[in-house]
Amino acid sequence: MFEILEKKILSPAVHQLVLRAPEIARKHKAGNFVMLRIDEKGERIPLTVADKDSGAGTITLVFQSVGKTTTQLGELVAGDAILDLAGPMGRPTHIERFAGVTVCVGGGIGVAPVHPIARALRDAGNRVVSIIGARAKELLILEEEMGRASDELLVATDDGSYGHHGFVTDVLKRVIEREGRENVSLVVAIGPVPMMRALCKTTEPYEVKTMVSLNPIMVDATGMCGACRVTVGGETKFACVDGPEFDGHQVDFDELTQRLRGYLEDEKRSMQIYSEHRGAHSCYT
Ligand code: FAD
Ligand code: FES
Ligand code: MG
Repeated sequence: MFEILEKKILSPAVHQLVLRAPEIARKHKAGNFVMLRIDEKGERIPLTVADKDSGAGTITLVFQSVGKTTTQLGELVAGDAILDLAGPMGRPTHIERFAGVTVCVGGGIGVAPVHPIARALRDAGNRVVSIIGARAKELLILEEEMGRASDELLVATDDGSYGHHGFVTDVLKRVIEREGRENVSLVVAIGPVPMMRALCKTTEPYEVKTMVSLNPIMVDATGMCGACRVTVGGETKFACVDGPEFDGHQVDFDELTQRLRGYLEDEKRSMQIYSEHRGAHSCYT
């Protein structure tokens, strides 16, 4: 069992949990994720390790309640425990001291997985410009943490309630123009699939290397089941063991989008049954 030591609500539907998991905290590297199962009847879901404290033996998970398992997870409180936690999983982010500036872009819940990457890049001596975005100010998460992990932090909101009025793509374009494309070594972009696709379209004409973290459905996360297969550069890859980070300019985003919707009806039904059982409000209504 893995005990929840702290719980915080970061924005409506976004929760942060600090869990006791000393082995995972010790081995974790930026880019890794864990597979968790709440109880013996639960499904396994992947969540990125948003932070860790190897001294204290804790890891931090940040997640958005979008369906049954993440809603159930969001209802847990400090003192509760999770049955299974397997990890760290996935290939860590490739970190080195790059010649030019590195840009980390996080949209919505994607700010959580981009945070450890920004910090690792900065710890390696890079100049890190981060861009974070959300639909509105109250949905923006981890602004302070991203500020500490970056040399410069820029914010965009779709409705203009905070920072730049518009999309993270506009801000990224401005940063590349300002720095000069030859001085931007790497863009790391994490967020909803349409956002990652749009960011890749933005960087493509500048020929700036752009890594994205893909979120296909994962079942075992050990490379055995094939559920997480994605097409990158015309080749089939398993995101759980070959990724989850890939060269965004090579990713087949249409296929990823289609595969993510493969179980939508079952997911809706599962949430409906859970809501009826708990008397809770369905997040699909
Ligand atoms: P459901 O209603 O079951 O599903 C909602 C949608 O989530 C589905 O339509 C599908 O697109 C996706 N999904 C469902 N089951 C899975 C699954 N087993 N694996 C992957 N996606 C699924 N979310 C966060 O909020 N924070 C994170 O840090 C985070 N990190 C992730 C890291 C990786 C490597 C991957 C692959 C996904 C990550 N996700 C993260 C997404 C998270 O796993 C899904 O939101 C979660 O599984 C949804 O489960 P649910 O039962 O609540 O929702
Ligand atoms: Fe089964 Fe990746 S989740 S192969
Ligand atoms: Mg589910």
